[in-house]
Amino acid sequence: MILVTGATGALGRPTVSLLTAAGHDVRALSRQPAPDPARVVADLSTGAGLAAALTGVTTVVHLATGANTHDSQQTRQLLRAIAGHPIEHLVFMSIVGVDKHSLGFYRDKHLSEQFIAASGAPYTILRATQFHSFVARLFTAQRRLPITVVPSFRMQPVAVDEVAARLVELVDAGPSGRVDDFGGPGQLSFRQLAQQWNAAHSLRKPVWSLPILGAVGRSFAHGVHLASLPGGGNIPFSAYAEAHARAAGAAGAAGSLRGSGTS
Ligand SMILES: NC(=O)c1ccc[n+]([C@@H]2O[C@H](COP(=O)([O-])OP(=O)(O)OC[C@H]3O[C@@H](n4cnc5c(N)ncnc54)[C@H](OP(=O)(O)O)[C@@H]3O)[C@@H](O)[C@H]2O)c1
Repeated sequence: MILVTGATGALGRPTVSLLTAAGHDVRALSRQPAPDPARVVADLSTGAGLAAALTGVTTVVHLATGANTHDSQQTRQLLRAIAGHPIEHLVFMSIVGVDKHSLGFYRDKHLSEQFIAASGAPYTILRATQFHSFVARLFTAQRRLPITVVPSFRMQPVAVDEVAARLVELVDAGPSGRVDDFGGPGQLSFRQLAQQWNAAHSLRKPVWSLPILGAVGRSFAHGVHLASLPGGGNIPFSAYAEAHARAAGAAGAAGSLRGSGTS
């Protein structure tokens, strides 16, 4: 039995689907109940429900995040709970460059890696670059603005489905320690990514790029968050942007059909 934490998240959903499709028995951990026999309710910040969630589990895929600097405490909570169970493999999703970056969230992610490596549990750690959907959030947040403002560094966005597929390979491979970083097929400036997004969505607006100051800005400017090329992923951000624009167009068309009473 495989327990997936963060099973309801951007990465957790395709990971659960692909593991299930590969024939694994999967238990999907969330704080929220759902009418789904695979769902188990537990909270990594308190430990509530964890012992029951781990019953009969031999592999844990740890993807949960609060996107804050408390994640390492949740990892410790998980490791404490795992200590009482015969876990054969703990797979952890991390982020490229966490050991070199000044961002507090990344430093905390590195702490999680260190706790796992020191725990004695047989483990695999995969670091990935930022997901397409994560990058796109900066553009959708500015959809009503006449310009798009972006930071002046490069990104190497990766398709979340390809990261999920890599996780399934790693589950099947067994404990491997820290494995090669996984990233998207290209390193592009945020400006180029914004231009691709705007072109796909037929938005004619200028893109302004601004430097990020301070230690965090220097970490990004030095590219410590980038994987070496080729990164492992094949799907470019432009394909994600075009698919997003098509889906938004289809949703808009369906909405106007409903509005005109023809559906
Ligand atoms: N997003 C990126 O660009 C990116 C890039 C590289 C690596 N990563 C890493 O990939 C992993 C997955 O990221 P994601 O973007 O898929 O995350 P996400 O969409 O933000 O989902 C977060 C997940 O964590 C769960 N969670 C949060 N707090 C919890 C708690 N206290 N107890 C139990 N579950 C909790 C949530 O479950 P419920 O709300 O259902 O309880 C949810 O399923 C993370 O480790 C992240 O750091 C992300």
